[in-house]
Amino acid sequence: METRIFLPGQLQEAGRLIRSGGLVAFPTETVYGLGGNAFLHDSARAIYAAKGRPSDNPLIVHIPSLDRMSQVCGGVDPVSQILAEALWPGPLTLILPKSPSIPGSVTGGLATVGVRIPDDPTAMELLRFADVPVAAPSANTSGRPSPTAFWMVQRDLSGRIDGIVKGPDTRIGLESTILRVDQGSVFILRPGAIGIEQIRQVLDEAGMSAIPLYSPMEGTAEHPEGTDAAHHQVPGSRYRHYSPSIRVRRFSDGASLTALLQDELNENPDLRFAILTTQRFSTLPLDGQSQRVVVYADLDHYARQLYKDMVQLESEDYQLIILHYPSSTVFSPQEGGIRSALQDRIRRACGDE
Ligand code: TXA
Ligand code: MG
Repeated sequence: METRIFLPGQLQEAGRLIRSGGLVAFPTETVYGLGGNAFLHDSARAIYAAKGRPSDNPLIVHIPSLDRMSQVCGGVDPVSQILAEALWPGPLTLILPKSPSIPGSVTGGLATVGVRIPDDPTAMELLRFADVPVAAPSANTSGRPSPTAFWMVQRDLSGRIDGIVKGPDTRIGLESTILRVDQGSVFILRPGAIGIEQIRQVLDEAGMSAIPLYSPMEGTAEHPEGTDAAHHQVPGSRYRHYSPSIRVRRFSDGASLTALLQDELNENPDLRFAILTTQRFSTLPLDGQSQRVVVYADLDHYARQLYKDMVQLESEDYQLIILHYPSSTVFSPQEGGIRSALQDRIRRACGDE
């Protein structure tokens, strides 16, 4: 199959292609998505086939505005409604009851559907032209890091999908926060750029301060009595995720990095490794030949670059990627959910759950 490249001026054609059953990858503010018509069973099947994804792992459905909600979900509870109005467009996916017009193949057979309005001008324009809800998982083959640049999609999916919209690198670089309201409590199923503090603030401003908020990242993971634990996990967490094919390890401070390097270099003195970090370490035993240290300006920069840099290093035959794990001790609410999201993705990249 030939994969067409659509430039930003060609979104009308790209939208038409999605509506008529084709698959087109496109940028959002989080990661690139692989879009298909969410009303069509065959488009969902084609998405699973192109990604090599298990078909019981549901897809997120994207819409351009709140007035399209009734096309995808049947009834929105008041708490989800408030969060949607306050935080959309944005990196937030809400799990809601599925409308009968969305085929079960899109939701992996679940009675719920993940819905999101992305905050990206290209995505928005494409969704308007498509004029149907667009089911879009991250545009990578299953188990690979999500693509945050056009070249990553092209390298991974070219020849397997109908088109790719060529946009800029994505602004956030990590997938959306996934959230579910269940029996009057709010559960964060996957941490993303919208953090627990921001959600708490929206609820406070709406006079809903009493609503319990649970996040697996903030030590509130135990689910309350009378709710079903299976509802508070994304089916996708059962599968291997976010991993490049080379070894990945993590460290949290200078001392643990030194210990890790000693351990690795004892095994193999010629090890070709890269360190990705937000801090400079002057005491490292580096010779510069087979090693690289990438220092990011801050956590936002780290998040934006992480997947791209891992895939790039992998293609340059590095043998080990060493990731700085941002600790929780110097948490500031202004940084939003990026720290939790980074912690989650770094743990997964290392193969820890
Ligand atoms: O930022 C994002 O969310 C990107 C962009 C393209 O929007 N999309 C994305 O999709 O990350 P994907 O398919 O790679 O991850 C979706 C996650 C999966 O772990 C899936 O199990 C979960 O969302 N999910 C989807 N629908 C769900 C539902 N009805 N109930 C629970 N989890 C759901
Ligand atoms: Mg994905």
